[in-house]
Amino acid sequence: MLSHLLHLEGVESVVVEHRSREYVTHRVRAGVLEQGTVELLHASGLGGRLQREGLVHEGIELRFGRRRHRIAFRDLAGGRTITIYGQQKVVEDLIAARVESGGALYFAASEVRVSGVDTSPRIRFAHAGKEVEVACDFVAGCDGTHGICRTLLPKDTTYVYVHEYPFAWTGVLAAVAPSTDELIYASHDTGFALHSMRSPEVSRLYLQCSPADRLEDWSDDRIWDELHRRLETSDGWTLKEGPIIEKSVTTIRSVVVEPMQHGRLFLAGDAAHVVPPTGAKGLNLALADVRELARALIGWYRTRDSRQLDRYTHDRLERVWQVQHFSSWMTAMLHPVPNDPSGIHRRLQKGELTYLASSRAAQASLAERYVGLASAT
Ligand code: PHB
Repeated sequence: MLSHLLHLEGVESVVVEHRSREYVTHRVRAGVLEQGTVELLHASGLGGRLQREGLVHEGIELRFGRRRHRIAFRDLAGGRTITIYGQQKVVEDLIAARVESGGALYFAASEVRVSGVDTSPRIRFAHAGKEVEVACDFVAGCDGTHGICRTLLPKDTTYVYVHEYPFAWTGVLAAVAPSTDELIYASHDTGFALHSMRSPEVSRLYLQCSPADRLEDWSDDRIWDELHRRLETSDGWTLKEGPIIEKSVTTIRSVVVEPMQHGRLFLAGDAAHVVPPTGAKGLNLALADVRELARALIGWYRTRDSRQLDRYTHDRLERVWQVQHFSSWMTAMLHPVPNDPSGIHRRLQKGELTYLASSRAAQASLAERYVGLASAT
C-alpha cells in the first residue's frame, strides 16, 4: 500500500518481500475493513473488486447467556459501517496494482540485510540466484513482528511493550454458507467463539483455546461441538456445519514498539505493533500507518521539510494505543480467563456484558471504535 501511495505521487520505491507470492496471497487473516480503510482503497484506485465483492455490514451481534444483542453501527456510529473483504483479496489487489504500475517488486527475497539507516540506507538481498543491492533515501520496515527492521532500532532507546494473553484462538475456514448475516461475538462460560465469514459460501469461525493446544487437539468434531455450545441461543438459532478447509491456532498478544522510527527507518504495521485479533484491527491499523507515512514522505520529497517525518512516531502512537486499548478491552470482556477459581472474573464479565446489552451509550462507544475512529489528521 505504501509503495502504491508513493507511486501515485511519483515517488519511486522497491518492495522486497521475503515470502513467495503464493504464500502472501494464501495466508488467512481477518477480513474486516473499517470505513476509513475502504475509503483509502477507493481513493487510491483500488476499490473495483472491493465494490463488487465486499459485504457491507451495518452491525455485529454479541451473544452471552444464550441470548443475542445487536450493536447497530449505522444508528450508533453516525452512518458508518464495516466491509467484509478477505485480507488476501486486499493483498492480491495491491500486487496487481504494483505489477500494473511496473514498479519494482521482489518476492522470495532471501538473506535480506539492511544497513546505514542513520544516514544512507542500503538493502541487500538474494533474488533468483543473484545478489541485489538498493541504495535508498528511506527504509519502511513493513516486515511484520518477526521481521528484521525492528531489530535495527537502537537497543538502549527502544522500548518494546509485550503482553501475552492466557489463551489462543483455533480458527477454521468452512465451506458452508454463513449461519448469520452479521459477525457474532459470543462469550460462553466455556470460552469465546466468533462467527465470521469470507463470502456467501465460506464461513470463518474461531474458538478460544489454550495457548498450549496443538492443531491435533482440535478434531473437526470437537470444533463443531464447541461452536454449537458457545454460539447457540435459546431462540432456536442453529449453526450450519460444512467441510473444514483450513485450520490453525493463533496466539494472542499485544506488542507496541516505541519509538517507531530511527534515522531513515520507519516501522509500520505489525513490525511496530501487534493487537489481539478481537475486533480485527491489525490490517486497518497497518494501512493507517502507511497512509500517514506516505503523506510524510511525499511532503519530504516536495519540500525537503522533515517535520512530518519527525512527528511520525508521536502521531501514530496516539492512535496505536487507542486501538491497542480497544482490542484488549474487547478481548478481556469476551474471553473467560482460564484461572478463575472463585468465579469473580466471569461474574465481572457478565456484569459488563449486561451493561453493554442495555446501554445505548456503551454500545455507541463500542460501535464508533469498531467502525474506526475518524483520522486525527
Ligand atoms: C475474521 O473474519 O477473520 C475476523 C473477524 C473479526 C475478528 C477477527 C477475525 O474480530
